[in-house]
Amino acid sequence: MAIQRTLSIIKPDATKRDVTGKINQMLETSGLRIVAQKRIKLSQDQAEGFYSVHKERPFYNDLVNFMMSGPVIVQVLEGENAVKLNRDVMGATNPEEADKGTIRAEVGLSIEANSVHGSDSEENAINEISFFFEDEEICP
Ligand code: CMP
Repeated sequence: MAIQRTLSIIKPDATKRDVTGKINQMLETSGLRIVAQKRIKLSQDQAEGFYSVHKERPFYNDLVNFMMSGPVIVQVLEGENAVKLNRDVMGATNPEEADKGTIRAEVGLSIEANSVHGSDSEENAINEISFFFEDEEICP
């Protein structure tokens, strides 16, 4: 299986509750290495741009405002089959539907405040990583 990279975001609901260490531990225990990480406050342009694929969805404005409501931690995760592995570790989008032991089941609060984002394909991972990181910021 190929070594991949994927973009992860720890969302404002999780930074506010100081559960970022717990999330990182769950990521690392699963076999994902955090090869870049920074805690930032998203600007409106960043939040709107990052989620522009959802701009016709009814929840878009709420999503953008939520992502600006506090600090986030943007991360690059690396490992075998990292895109799918991270999505498995995150669990379903809605924490109520996420399998026990996944991040969203253990930490998530609601479909909006679901604690983490992860790229959904290798192609999107490349684009999402470059949205937040320069190559030299990534330290494998
Ligand atoms: P994420 O993986 O960050 O990608 C888009 C986000 O939209 C998703 O996680 C959810 O947190 C958020 N969202 C809010 N409402 C909905 C909804 N009704 N359906 C899907 N996603 C939603």
